[in-house]
Amino acid sequence: MRPPVIAVDGTAASGKGTLARRLAAYFGFAHLDSGVLYRLTALGVLEAGGDPGLESDALAAARALDQARAGELVLRSDAVGAAASKLAAIASVRAALLHYQRQFIDHPPGAAAGAVVDGRDIGTVICPDADAKLFVDAAPEVRAHRRWQELAGLGIQRNEAQVLEELVHRDAADRARAVAPLRQAQDAALLDTTNLGIDAAFAAALALVEPRLAAKLEAKPRG
Ligand code: CDP
Repeated sequence: MRPPVIAVDGTAASGKGTLARRLAAYFGFAHLDSGVLYRLTALGVLEAGGDPGLESDALAAARALDQARAGELVLRSDAVGAAASKLAAIASVRAALLHYQRQFIDHPPGAAAGAVVDGRDIGTVICPDADAKLFVDAAPEVRAHRRWQELAGLGIQRNEAQVLEELVHRDAADRARAVAPLRQAQDAALLDTTNLGIDAAFAAALALVEPRLAAKLEAKPRG
């Protein structure tokens, strides 16, 4: 039987990554930020001087993905985010990144008891039978402010209005694409974090996820 999976999808800078990390720590599960796979692919294309909208360039980068670079600051830049969103619309690129995500889910690293995966299409395409699904969203201005703060914390100074514009543009493109668009799965619970700090958002996420996982978890989850 496949280990338990929590799918956390949502809009850009909605807090899904932080929530996914905290859920993983709480349940002792492995965490995969699937956005990093798209950002790493984008970085590969940009560094090779390629075009992220061109299938041959994007596919070559997806196939040569260097996971060792997953922690690099450059991945957080708008240029990489925008390029990631562009190549994420190409079906063959998504297919090339699908195997890694399914492997992670079927065999969570470190012999973890389960997996938490965050992204755009985890509950709809990557793992439609996930045991618990969240769709995380917040007002665009709130998300832009959080992303602006996050970037400032990393030493990247940005204009907040531009951050907002970039997020809104990227969400619209992610929702409009034909392949694996950003959308709430029918059986996903909506979590609006507009008025929630991280602790309150985590408590709300846990309250939604825990009952759904209960049937699958034999042992009592760690606190
Ligand atoms: O952190 P943020 O929410 O801004 O973005 P991300 O999760 O790192 O994803 C960057 C881009 O990759 C998104 O705008 C999507 O176009 C794409 N992506 C995707 O298509 N499917 C996923 N499962 C994850 C990311």
